[in-house]
Amino acid sequence: MTEEPAADVPNDVPNDVPNDLPNDLPNDLPNDLMDRIVNVCKRRGFIFPSAEIYGGFRSTYDYGPLGVLLLRNVKDAWWRAMVQYRDDVVGLDAAILSAPKIWEASGHLSNFTDPLVDCRSCRERWRADKIEGACPNCGSTDLTEARAFNLMFKTFAGPVEEDATVAYLRPETAQGMFVNFLNVLQTTRKKPPFGIAQVGKSFRNEITPQNFVFRTREFEQMEMEYFVPPPDAQKWFEYWLDERYRWYLDLGIPPEKLRLRHHDPDELSHYSAATADVEFLFPWGWDELEGIANRTDFDLKAHSAASGEKLEYFDQASGERYVPYVIEPAAGATRAMMAFLLAAYDEDEVGGEKRTVLRLDPRLAPYQVAVLPLSKNDTLVPLSREVLGQLQPICMCDFDVTQSIGKRYRRQDEVGTPFCVTVDFDSLEDRAVTVRERDTTEQVRVPIDALATEIGGRLGR
Ligand code: GAP
Repeated sequence: MTEEPAADVPNDVPNDVPNDLPNDLPNDLPNDLMDRIVNVCKRRGFIFPSAEIYGGFRSTYDYGPLGVLLLRNVKDAWWRAMVQYRDDVVGLDAAILSAPKIWEASGHLSNFTDPLVDCRSCRERWRADKIEGACPNCGSTDLTEARAFNLMFKTFAGPVEEDATVAYLRPETAQGMFVNFLNVLQTTRKKPPFGIAQVGKSFRNEITPQNFVFRTREFEQMEMEYFVPPPDAQKWFEYWLDERYRWYLDLGIPPEKLRLRHHDPDELSHYSAATADVEFLFPWGWDELEGIANRTDFDLKAHSAASGEKLEYFDQASGERYVPYVIEPAAGATRAMMAFLLAAYDEDEVGGEKRTVLRLDPRLAPYQVAVLPLSKNDTLVPLSREVLGQLQPICMCDFDVTQSIGKRYRRQDEVGTPFCVTVDFDSLEDRAVTVRERDTTEQVRVPIDALATEIGGRLGR
């Protein structure tokens, strides 16, 4: 993002950057890892290109039966860490469509721009800061001057299309939390330091959406605004850097693929006094997963000035009145999901046979358990359904009766299911089942009556 004033540029949709991946990947991943992930996502129902039967719609994606589960688990893990396990953060779900005055006051109408250039030879459009002086499509250096392109999606609220009805889809969830600062303060009786957290869709008319769901025009964010006394801002900035970095490690991103990068002063957004990114080693190199920023009192002051409402905190104990500073950890849910998939992807050999396995943390895996009757035989299915009924209250389960047991294990490995529970003919006699673990493929026999406790224990529930 740059800080030039927005020029009057039509809000049309420029071309995508082709998804060219370098051959010399910076680590031990297979060179075509992205292709393999995209393939698994499509084939197994994680992510589909949107509007596929109509030829697709540029860089938009639909999350399929397994994708919604994985994405929901990413968002739930974030919510648990940021809201549920704390007593100083509360939640919010603000409107996506809201008063344009918000975007005027926040600076998005004038500042939320990327530099856009046109190639005069082939007419492709590019982000000037992402190319090196030549058109990536045709190689021509005959490019227009860069001009500021505002990334907000414009629409009209109501049936009349005129200036007075212009509205924007939110480009970040953050502003909903600033404009509700007083509402939350008054209804929760929180006092700084305290936070407001929100998960939801944001929209940006990206000039170059690219790399699958890494950068799309419609995406989900997980953001938290943490309001602190100004003298404590640096301390809390460092605290949240550490917390957010550890969140990714805890959910299975290996330390060698995760780093913190502090922004140089000339990289900072218009509202930020300090920013650091949590970066992941993607197949194309290090890139941003999440930004943690010290937004100072920029937003509360801007909305106070524009609305006439005093967005400040009155500390009754000290008699002091002040505008809190804000520390903001801002993550992408869809981008994090992609990083978890990339980090989990593995290929190994089991019993002399090659298998693909997603070593997802059980908290993120779409299904925690698959219940598999050894055969479709009518006598096994009722007991298998009884087992399923015992496990469904504690976790998400798949129930699969098709094909050989070996093929079903492979299918579950490929989508990251940590445990398979097999019901066989002995189960009818001994009321026990076989529990197979995904990573080690180790199998143990467990009495059905102890199964929920066993699985619950292994899942830490
Ligand atoms: N409120 C601050 C803010 O929105 P940002 O760095 O622009 O900061 C935060 O966005 C996070 O949202 C990013 O780190 C990224 O994970 C995600 N994000 C931003 N733009 C995105 C896009 N076009 N597609 C997918 N994720 C995106």
